[in-house]
Amino acid sequence: MSRKSSKRLALKDQIQTEEEARYFNELYEEQMEWTVSTRKQLYRKMNLFHAKQILEVGSGTGAVLREIQTINPKANLVGIDWNSIALNYSRGESFYPNIIHGKGEILPFPSNSFDITLCHYFLMWVKEPLTILKEMKRVTRVGKWIACLAEPDYGGRLDYPASELWEELLLGSLSAHDPFIGRKLRSIFFQVGLKAEIGLQSTVLSPDIVNELYELEMEKLGHFLPEKNKHKLAKLQQMLESHNSAELFSFIPVFFGLARNLK
Ligand SMILES: C[S@@+](CC[C@H](N)C(=O)[O-])C[C@H]1O[C@@H](n2cnc3c(N)ncnc32)[C@H](O)[C@@H]1O
Repeated sequence: MSRKSSKRLALKDQIQTEEEARYFNELYEEQMEWTVSTRKQLYRKMNLFHAKQILEVGSGTGAVLREIQTINPKANLVGIDWNSIALNYSRGESFYPNIIHGKGEILPFPSNSFDITLCHYFLMWVKEPLTILKEMKRVTRVGKWIACLAEPDYGGRLDYPASELWEELLLGSLSAHDPFIGRKLRSIFFQVGLKAEIGLQSTVLSPDIVNELYELEMEKLGHFLPEKNKHKLAKLQQMLESHNSAELFSFIPVFFGLARNLK
């Protein structure tokens, strides 16, 4: 399925068909390329290359687990997610992780089971990030690692042209539970008794990617904006059209949080 023909699928944020799983997987893998260098540094810090038991909570279509599998093929990799269609997609040939259908709020593992427990683009989508991080801590061995590899903060997003308009319209229509989760990572770790290193994962997107992102977001806004705000969307469109597409700029800060479980 081509990106263009499948764009309408991204209007919903939840994967409901195999086709959507394929589409989102492509999107997730693309997003991962933007932040690969920081992720590799984090893997090094956590000694992921030698970890024996690794869990990803909210593993979706398996994009992160596939990367980890190539880096540490000997590890026992486990993924858990509550979306069975995404999970089924991730169970492919030559993909070894153990994939489990379940909720991040109640992880079905004994305490002290994993050397690394991580998530990626996940806490922004959940109702109870604190409950989930507590669970992630519980299942992680003492002295081992808990990582939120990438959580964005849309309040820090910068766009040119029309930054304020993007912010106003997008924040009103995002379906994430907390588009400001990035700035709260330190506090969430602290509240479960973990002292986290917080850092920035971000890259400045290339004009091609900004164009694609804008196309997707305009379509989404066109769908979900209330009628009374449609004139603002028209204004945004006008501003975008008054610039060459090679001029467009968008920056979304994406944070990581990493902590050792000292209990
Ligand atoms: C944006 S996707 C990220 C998937 C994957 N981590 C990646 O980066 O490719 C978020 C995933 O979290 C899952 N999810 C959201 N809330 C959840 C919960 N409470 N328990 C388990 N999975 C959840 C969704 O089904 C979805 O697959």
